[in-house]
Amino acid sequence: LGTLGIHHAEVLIGVFIGAVTFTGSVVAYLKLAARINSKPLVLPGKNALNVGALVVLLVLTVLFTIEPALWLLVAATAVALALGWHLVASIGGGDMPVVVSMLNSYSGWAAAASGFLLGNDLLIVTGALVGSSGAYLSYIMCKAMNRSFLSVIAGGFGIEAPSGSDVDYGEHQEITAQGAAEALAAARSVVITPGYGMAVAQAQYPVAELASKLRARGVEVRFGIHPVAGRLPGHMNVLLAEAKVPYDVVLEMDEINDDFADTDVVLVIGANDTVNPAGAEDPSSPLAGMPVLTVWEAGQVIVFKRSMASGYAGVQNPLFFRENTAMLFGDAKTRVEDIV
Ligand code: TAP
Repeated sequence: LGTLGIHHAEVLIGVFIGAVTFTGSVVAYLKLAARINSKPLVLPGKNALNVGALVVLLVLTVLFTIEPALWLLVAATAVALALGWHLVASIGGGDMPVVVSMLNSYSGWAAAASGFLLGNDLLIVTGALVGSSGAYLSYIMCKAMNRSFLSVIAGGFGIEAPSGSDVDYGEHQEITAQGAAEALAAARSVVITPGYGMAVAQAQYPVAELASKLRARGVEVRFGIHPVAGRLPGHMNVLLAEAKVPYDVVLEMDEINDDFADTDVVLVIGANDTVNPAGAEDPSSPLAGMPVLTVWEAGQVIVFKRSMASGYAGVQNPLFFRENTAMLFGDAKTRVEDIV
């Protein structure tokens, strides 16, 4: 009976984690695809609701372990689905990357729970690997983004919901590849800050070529890498290494941030959230508190992207509307090749 009881508990635990992950992922998708508002949902007593749901689930698990009735399983599934929905709905755009990697981690734990249930060692081991690597990635991202890990998993516990209103930042300016090339030819120092768009466009090769051409002309060229630029830790470093960019000109955010004021031209290649001044300057932004590359302090900023669309966190970037910023629209690889 004891083993059977444990099996019953495993069923409920597996269903619980799986259901939370499922509705949580649906909400995360809807927020990131801008189908629903990315602002955090603040229900009255949201923390009490979460704790209440956990207590109900615990009681249902105990009852199910003693006497497994179908209605208990159905009730637990319904509560877990609602909890997953609420946990992710309570989190704002800036924290979504962490939430997505947490959900990835939960799916691993759900698989591990099924492994215990089915007595399948392979499922337990692979599930635990997915679960712990996802949890570790979330932890690294939280540190890099100055977020509290526990608050994010607890559905925004203790996080003040930012108002994040839609501000009209005015008009943006555009520049051509020709204009960008002229600005670079006249520059003494250039910093390149790549982001996810450089990976999408596979622009690292022409970027490396541009950097070596500029260096041959005596221009000081360096790269500034934000800790969460791209979609994986070290994403940009790997791409630049692949294109044979020398390591000594690839600097971390903390090493380069003080130098932007002395930089003539910054090339923002497919980066968005990681160069958003709102992180540093606007306490009402969903990105508030996240350290960013302070590119706007440079003489001129040229932003390579295809449109005015927002980045991963789904928030508008006031950098694009600054006086010293010009947009260079188009695929990053093609545009950099044009400049070369
Ligand atoms: P993002 O904020 O994701 O912005 C990337 C930009 O690249 C987009 O705005 C997009 O604009 C542009 N882009 C896409 N394809 C392009 C192309 N072919 N040519 C030119 N531009 C292109 O990038 P980021 O600054 O690197 O920030 C990373 C984000 O991902 C952060 O929010 C971070 O928290 C999150 N995240 C990071 C990680 C890790 S560990 N690094 C993991 C998960 C999530 P258009 O569509 O207008 O072209």
